[in-house]
Parts: sequence; structure tokens; C-alpha cells
Amino acid sequence: MSNSNTTKYRAKIVGSGSYVPPDILTNADLEAIVDTSDEWITTRTGIKERHIASREMSGVDMAVKASEAALENANWKPEDVEMVIVGTVTPDYRLPSNSCVLQDRMGMVNAGTMDIAAACAGYIHGQSIASAYIESGQLERILVIGVEKLSTITNYKDRGTCILFGDAAGAVALERTTDGSGVLSSFLKSDGRLGKLLWIPVGGTQSPYPEVMRNGGVQNGEDCLHMAGSEVFKQAVRQMGDAALKVIERSGLETKDVDMVVPHQANIRIIDALRKRLDLPEEKVYVNIDRFGNTSSASVPLALDEALRNKTIKEGDNVLMLAFGGGLTWGASLVRM
Ligand code: UT7
Repeated sequence: MSNSNTTKYRAKIVGSGSYVPPDILTNADLEAIVDTSDEWITTRTGIKERHIASREMSGVDMAVKASEAALENANWKPEDVEMVIVGTVTPDYRLPSNSCVLQDRMGMVNAGTMDIAAACAGYIHGQSIASAYIESGQLERILVIGVEKLSTITNYKDRGTCILFGDAAGAVALERTTDGSGVLSSFLKSDGRLGKLLWIPVGGTQSPYPEVMRNGGVQNGEDCLHMAGSEVFKQAVRQMGDAALKVIERSGLETKDVDMVVPHQANIRIIDALRKRLDLPEEKVYVNIDRFGNTSSASVPLALDEALRNKTIKEGDNVLMLAFGGGLTWGASLVRM
């Protein structure tokens, strides 16, 4: 059956799963590492603790756990999955991709695979691509994952960034539906001119490791995330706000029709600014940044999975997802559950 004028295919969220590693890094732990305080971190970011994976646990190890939970929740077998899309900037290997490694680990033998390098907006990009495949009638079942082991690219000497990040994975199963639910609208945008506001200077082809090692090794944590925090902050508020209004309008809805917002958990002050701009009450915005910090591409699916499992989000709800990250990249999606 093809996607004719009479049959509108949409991508429905039929399952989700997430995983965070057991070890917790508290604000008190960070006070012992850098010149900071629980009071500063809490008031400036909203973060109290984040989960950090052990040396032995890779990103794909976390993605396997999240994906197993999502497949079970969706009542899918691994062979049912036709595409695996992984948002990550911390892959297990430079080659093969995380999606290929995950496909193998899960036995998703019938799937095509792709990794998306859109940093914190990686999941939203993956979900948008998945819904386009499903809407076009090409595929019926796609697994989208956001996974990051940010602790491997965090400079624990830089108090401006190390207090923010945590490790996690989130996975979402998207299936073709014709019942009017599913992804109603998505919007993606980037501004590559601002790429160096949030970047990793060393390790790519512009500054390959063998050359760096010959010249005395990595200096000043340059193989870790560097961020111009307050610039990124301003962009995040502006761009996610604009993206939100765009997908609400494209979906033929109004802001009052949004039942729950699942924003990227980067900073409680960014989330609050967005909430005020959209004129939404606190109870309509899902927040778990206090417990997990910023987990980049895992952030939105981790919060979504939590909100589905604790029934904050229910069948029929209009859910607005928002993300913003390095690139700079951002996006929004309106999904009817
Ligand atoms: O996920 C991708 C997108 N990422 C984001 O959206 C993150 C956006 N940015 C932010 O969340 C915030 O900019 C930060 C939390 C990173 C920083 O907060 P801020 O309010 O923008 O602080 P700031 O960088 O303007 O620094 C203010 C002061 C500075 O001291 P002086 O120069 O005023 O004396 C910093 O040195 O706070 C100081 N500071 C700290 N003090 C205690 C910076 N980090 C810390 C710290 N503890 N951890």
C-alpha cells in the first residue's frame, strides 16, 4: 500500500526505553574537583547530580539497554526494525558507526542504519528523518536512539562545562499509523557560522591525533568540549522558542493545545525562559535536569521515556519536543501520542 491522498501515514511513538549508568556525580563531588559550589550549580543550571558511565561501559552498551526496553515496550522483535537511527557525538568507534554496532548487538538484521552528528539535537533530527520515511510510505518501523558518553569528552578541569554533562541513552520506537496520531510536524535548522561556540578543537582531520601527539600531545583539554556558555544560552532560548512556534503553527494547533513540552535539558533557566515565552504553566513542561544534567542527544528521549512511564504523558496528548546543540543545530517536533 502506498501513501495515497486518501491515506495519511504518520509515525506514532509505540514504545520507549532509556538507561542511565548507576554511578552518580553530585555537586558536592564537583566541589572537590573544581572551584565551584552546589549553590552556584543549582541556581545557575538547576542540576544536582548526573550519572557517569564506568570505563568499561560504552555508549552502545547504554544504547542496547535503552533499545531492549523500547522494543519490549513496543512489542517488537529485533527483526521487525527496518531502520536504526542513532544520534551521537560520542560513538564507540570512528568506524563502524554506533548504529551498525547497535544493529549487530541487538540482532536487528533487517535494518538499514545511520548515525546523526547533530549533538544535543541529534534525537530530534533522527525522529524527523524517521517520520519522513514513514510518512512517505517507504518504511513502517524505525528505532531512533539518542546516546552519549559525554564524560569521555568533558574536561573535568573546566568548571564552565564539567558541571553540566552526564551519560545516558534513550530509545523510541516509531511505527506507521493512519489513526491521526503520531508526528504532526517537525522543524530542523542549523547555523554553521556559530559552530565554534560549542566545539571540540582536536581529534578530527583538521587536527589529527597522530600529529597532535608528535607535537607534544593534547593541551588544555582541547580534545574535550569547549563552550561559550552565555552565547549558546542566548541562541538556545531564541531558536528553540522560534522552532516551537513554527511546529505548533504547522500542526494547525495553538500553544494552548500543547499538553506537555519535553525540552532538551541543558539549563533550567533556558527551560524557564522558553516556558515564559510560550506562556505555559510549569506543570506543562517536563523537567528532570536536576537528576541527569545535560545528556545531549539522550536528553529528550530520556525525559520522554520517563514521562511516558510515570504517566505524565498520556495517549492522545500533544507533546512538543525541543532541542538545541552544537553545530549549532536545533529543532522541534509536535507529536500526538
Ligand atoms: O546542550 C547544548 C547547549 N548548551 C547550552 O545550552 C548551555 C548554555 N549555557 C549555560 O547553560 C550557561 O551559560 C552556563 C551554565 C554554562 C554558565 O552560566 P552563565 O550564567 O552563563 O555564567 P557565565 O559563563 O556568564 O559566568 C558567570 C560567572 C563567571 O565569573 P565572573 O567572570 O563573573 O567572575 C564564571 O567564571 O560564573 C563563573 N562560573 C562559575 N562559578 C562557579 C562559571 N562556571 C562556574 C562554576 N562555579 N561551575
